[in-house]
Amino acid sequence: MNATTPKSVFLGMTGASGAAYGLRLLAALAACGCDVTLCVSDSGLLVVREELELVVEGREATVAALLARAGAPAAVRVVDPADIGAPAASGSAAPDAAVVCPCTMSSAAHIALGTSRNLIHRVADVALKERRPLVVVPRETPLSVVHLRRLLELAEAGAIVLPAMPGFYVRPTSVDDLVDHIAGKVLQALGFEQHLFRPWDGGVR
Ligand SMILES: Cc1cc2nc3c(=O)[nH]c(=O)nc-3n(C[C@H](O)[C@H](O)[C@H](O)COP(=O)(O)O)c2cc1C
Repeated sequence: MNATTPKSVFLGMTGASGAAYGLRLLAALAACGCDVTLCVSDSGLLVVREELELVVEGREATVAALLARAGAPAAVRVVDPADIGAPAASGSAAPDAAVVCPCTMSSAAHIALGTSRNLIHRVADVALKERRPLVVVPRETPLSVVHLRRLLELAEAGAIVLPAMPGFYVRPTSVDDLVDHIAGKVLQALGFEQHLFRPWDGGVR
């Protein structure tokens, strides 16, 4: 970590497809040695269970299984999306940076419009107002004009909109490679050095 790298990162995982992106990011952030706070939305729990094939029930068991899969059970602080009074919700105690990965169009809209309905929206809202880095990783296809407008508003408000669109120039040979590309791009956007994918080197000439 250097002077500009965030020492604390809030990771919100919402109910968009792409739980694997959030999982990879969680593991990578914990490995970076920064202070990670994890918040999974109610719909996020459902998608996490479905896509990561976690055979568990309830919030606590799902988050525990997610942390175990990330190999980072002890290093991560877990907060409930309903806990709007958590320290991360306050400008004076907010983390250095926030990421919503994956981000639903519903959460993107709430953040863009400032209509916070849970802790994930509120932390993102605080990051924007405090001019701290906010990375939003939307996942939806196709995108409606409504979606595109909200994403534009987020970018105009200062968020980095980093869609879950893995590049194929990294010559992926597995789903893991695709997931690593997006997680690596998020780490870069936050200012971390990343070793999850090899940067473009000019290709075959
Ligand atoms: C299996 C599954 C996959 C979903 N995938 C997406 C998606 O890729 N993008 C999206 O915007 N919403 C998706 N949704 C819908 C959201 O989960 C839903 O709009 C939810 O209310 C969003 O709440 P949240 O933003 O608080 O997580 C999906 C739902 C399910 C059950």
